[in-house]
Amino acid sequence: MRILAPAKINLHLRVGPPRADGFHPLLTWMTTIGLHDTISLEPLGKTTGSLPVPAGEAIRMNCTDPSLPTDERNLAVKAAKLLRSNSNQSVAIHLEKKIPHGGGLGGGSSDAAFTLWALNQFWHLEKTIDSLSELAAQLGSDVPFFLHGPSSICRGRGEEVRPIASPALARWVLLILPDLSMPTPAVYKQFDDMKLGQMSEIEGEPDWNQWAALSSQDLLPNLVNDLETPAFAIEPRLARLRADIEQQLSRPVRMSGSGSSLFSLYDTRPEAADAAEWVNQTHGAKAIAVEMTPAQLG
Ligand code: C5P
Repeated sequence: MRILAPAKINLHLRVGPPRADGFHPLLTWMTTIGLHDTISLEPLGKTTGSLPVPAGEAIRMNCTDPSLPTDERNLAVKAAKLLRSNSNQSVAIHLEKKIPHGGGLGGGSSDAAFTLWALNQFWHLEKTIDSLSELAAQLGSDVPFFLHGPSSICRGRGEEVRPIASPALARWVLLILPDLSMPTPAVYKQFDDMKLGQMSEIEGEPDWNQWAALSSQDLLPNLVNDLETPAFAIEPRLARLRADIEQQLSRPVRMSGSGSSLFSLYDTRPEAADAAEWVNQTHGAKAIAVEMTPAQLG
């Protein structure tokens, strides 16, 4: 069984002051994009017939990116362990990585969510999306989004997911992948140290349907990411790159999640592709044009 696990971007990300548990209340609009990891599930080569498989041997994983752990530190393995409900279940997970790590694109979260979703079928568990979502929330704040997607408003610490319309016109993403890895907890800590975050900013909501109908030129000026200030304080090179590209493209450039990925939006593929080529050539940063909520990813 083979499935695609897409990346996300945060089109809009408002962050409130820290809660008692240390997490931050969010109001965010996330969409999937046409950049994905691929997860393959296969029966574990070693068969024990009808005998139970010992827990320590039931889940095997390998990954094309040698810098990622393939033991329980990997969110996909954690997801499989959380879902495994009896001793006859086993699986070999193969992960082909394309989504950069530390880019604010939710790669690990997407792998975990789609591992839950796929193993639910692979092991014939017949759990509902709501019950998978409860497990997903235990794995990370962004994980439940991927079970609902592809365009959703997320609240709480991210786990309260409400699907909305995808942008109708602003569908093409210039995605810039700087060679910088931003640690999410450090960005939130900097946010707290700078005493940022107003509860009032996340209480009300804009008219999302109206926003989803706007052209990229009209939508972009509405979009905010409250984690940019702390991320740019930690990594001034990212601040300079964003300012530079924004000025030269003459359109807003936003950061996704806690960084380091940057994006802008276009109404057509050729415009996004031209901008990506320009960023590649002038800034040496990897840049690609990808579609938002592409149909083949559901
Ligand atoms: O939930 P997840 O494990 O993905 O979160 C990673 C880190 O990001 C948390 O340890 C926390 O520091 C921070 N975070 C937060 N508020 C959120 C989501 C994440 O402070 N709503």
